[in-house]
Amino acid sequence: MRVQSIAAAAVALLSPQSHAARPEGLPERPILEPSPYHAGQALPVSPPRDDDRFCHVRAGCHPRDDAAPRILKAFEVCNDGGTVVLDQVYWIGSPLDLTFLKHVDVVITGEVHFDDTDVYYWADHSFKYPYQNTSAFWQIGGEDVNIYGDLSNDQSLIDGHGQAYWKEIETNTTLRRPLLFVFEGLEGGSMSNLRMRNPPFWFNLIANSTDIIVSNMDLEAVATDGVKIANSDGWDTYRSNRVVIQDSVINNTDDCVSFKPNSTNVVVQGLVCHGSHGISIGSLGQYKGLTDIVENLHIYNISMSNASDGARIKVWPGIETDFQDNLNGGGGLGWVRNVTYDLFHHENNDRAITITQCYGQKNQTLCNEFPANLTIEDITMKNMWGTTSGAYDPRAGTLVCSADDRCSNIRVENVTVTVPSGESPVYDCLHVDESLLDLTCVAPVIDRDTSQG
Ligand SMILES: *[C@@H]1O[C@H](CO)[C@@H](O)[C@H](O)[C@H]1NC(C)=O
Ligand SMILES: *[C@@H]1O[C@H](CO)[C@@H](O)[C@H](O)[C@H]1NC(C)=O
Ligand SMILES: *[C@@H]1O[C@H](CO)[C@@H](O)[C@H](O)[C@H]1NC(C)=O
Ligand SMILES: *[C@@H]1O[C@H](CO)[C@@H](O)[C@H](O)[C@H]1NC(C)=O
Ligand SMILES: *[C@@H]1O[C@H](CO)[C@@H](O)[C@H](O)[C@H]1NC(C)=O
Ligand SMILES: *[C@@H]1O[C@H](CO)[C@@H](O)[C@H](O)[C@H]1NC(C)=O
Ligand SMILES: *[C@@H]1O[C@H](CO)[C@@H](O)[C@H](O)[C@H]1NC(C)=O
Ligand SMILES: *[C@@H]1O[C@H](CO)[C@@H](O)[C@H](O)[C@H]1NC(C)=O
Ligand SMILES: *[C@@H]1O[C@H](CO)[C@@H](O)[C@H](O)[C@H]1NC(C)=O
Ligand SMILES: *[C@@H]1O[C@H](CO)[C@@H](O)[C@H](O)[C@H]1NC(C)=O
Ligand SMILES: *[C@@H]1O[C@H](CO)[C@@H](O)[C@H](O)[C@H]1NC(C)=O
Repeated sequence: MRVQSIAAAAVALLSPQSHAARPEGLPERPILEPSPYHAGQALPVSPPRDDDRFCHVRAGCHPRDDAAPRILKAFEVCNDGGTVVLDQVYWIGSPLDLTFLKHVDVVITGEVHFDDTDVYYWADHSFKYPYQNTSAFWQIGGEDVNIYGDLSNDQSLIDGHGQAYWKEIETNTTLRRPLLFVFEGLEGGSMSNLRMRNPPFWFNLIANSTDIIVSNMDLEAVATDGVKIANSDGWDTYRSNRVVIQDSVINNTDDCVSFKPNSTNVVVQGLVCHGSHGISIGSLGQYKGLTDIVENLHIYNISMSNASDGARIKVWPGIETDFQDNLNGGGGLGWVRNVTYDLFHHENNDRAITITQCYGQKNQTLCNEFPANLTIEDITMKNMWGTTSGAYDPRAGTLVCSADDRCSNIRVENVTVTVPSGESPVYDCLHVDESLLDLTCVAPVIDRDTSQG
């Protein structure tokens, strides 16, 4: 107790508005249940936090004062059983390493902005990860952390001010752009009831983590002045096990959810995605000689509109090739196995289903010559309805593997997706067992480009 009161005094010095008792109007931690599906086993119990340890972070004295040191201090003081309260407007202008957390809650009913004054400051000072040149403003990890806001107010916001970065990459395509949010090595945790806006790169990366649930999120990327939004994936999972992402709305220009290497036992359910590149497995097999495993995914009840693709699996060819300045590869090993897409509504998406082992390579002939060494097995896609965009009318999708032995047991059942012309929809199929596909296959147009995005 004595330690706690000294700690409380220290917070009081740093932040005059700190409370020992629960601040008035602070929302309670929401009770989050994976529903209707869970990721294989129950989430670990997160004990209630102490009712007398709230670390309130005060706003800066000047606009854009860097709040990172004050936020760090609050976590140091309130770690191990307390609650950090972010109910003001904060600007973060230096990297924030929060990977030491344990049994702590974070309430964001205010606004967290990342300073975009100098995009090169972040290129130099962000946390760097080897995978796909990713980096972060801040990283959150440890054990048993719950982050939540309250969507009934106008705030509860995390804003990456991506516009400045999207603009800069018009001239510097290799600019290193931070992800908006990273779970890095978190064992047990949740995130819910928050707004996220305008990530310089992806919205969220869940990496090196287990037993995570994300629920009731509202994500949107909006550009101004005709600048093109770059990337903006909703969630990417990487080297993570038992993750549930559910009941959220996403408006973006890249994958709504993307399962990167070594994502296992992931459930994605109840999402509404606008303008995306689909619920995408991969890209996988990007790194020559490395083994990527994606296994046991359940994707349920997705409503998707204005997307390039819906249910999607993207695998690089068996040979390294160039794709983009900061993204190229091929020649990787591994497998995608035991994946179910069930209940999927399409509205104005270019393709309902996309399976390719020729990602990042426009030349399908080359892909057939060097088949992917990453296999696709035991996939079920069922109960899909709606209408495509007509971009490839009467084609509604593509299921093209690179050789007969690279894909097995891919099943499609009860897909009633129509195309705008009213013609009978057809799908490009190659090197897949057509007897398991309850749709009309045609020979692919060999140069159809499924290499992008
Ligand atoms: C995840 O763990 C790997 C291996 O330790 C490490 O290289 C990587 O930086 C970690 N984080 C991310 C986001 O990749
Ligand atoms: C592009 O941005 C990177 C930082 O990510 C920097 O190292 C490089 O020098 C920049 N290139 C140009 C042409 O400005
Ligand atoms: C998605 O965002 C774009 C602007 O970037 C906007 O035009 C569109 O109306 C939004 N869609 C929805 C459904 O909110
Ligand atoms: C993924 O798992 C496989 C098998 O354990 C391992 O060989 C590979 O290095 C892992 N990949 C990453 C990126 O950690
Ligand atoms: C599907 O998800 C939506 C939310 O996006 C929810 O309202 C609806 O009840 C869900 N339907 C089923 C069958 O789970
Ligand atoms: C396949 O994945 C589901 C989760 O989507 C899981 O319940 C099931 O046990 C897995 N099957 C095998 C054979 O691992
Ligand atoms: C899809 O895009 C069209 C045309 O850009 C737009 O009119 C429509 O509102 C969009 N639908 C949604 C759900 O965002
Ligand atoms: C990272 O970006 C550089 C160019 O900035 C590129 O040469 C390299 O291939 C990229 N690395 C990965 C792993 O994608
Ligand atoms: C595609 O690759 C094949 C085999 O490597 C090659 O013969 C052909 O010229 C390539 N086509 C184009 C358009 O590059
Ligand atoms: C990758 O596949 C090719 C055939 O496409 C095969 O010759 C090669 O041995 C495989 N590589 C590995 C490492 O398995
Ligand atoms: C077929 O899918 C629709 C959704 O498109 C669903 O309502 C229906 O129950 C499914 N039929 C069967 C037999 O599962």
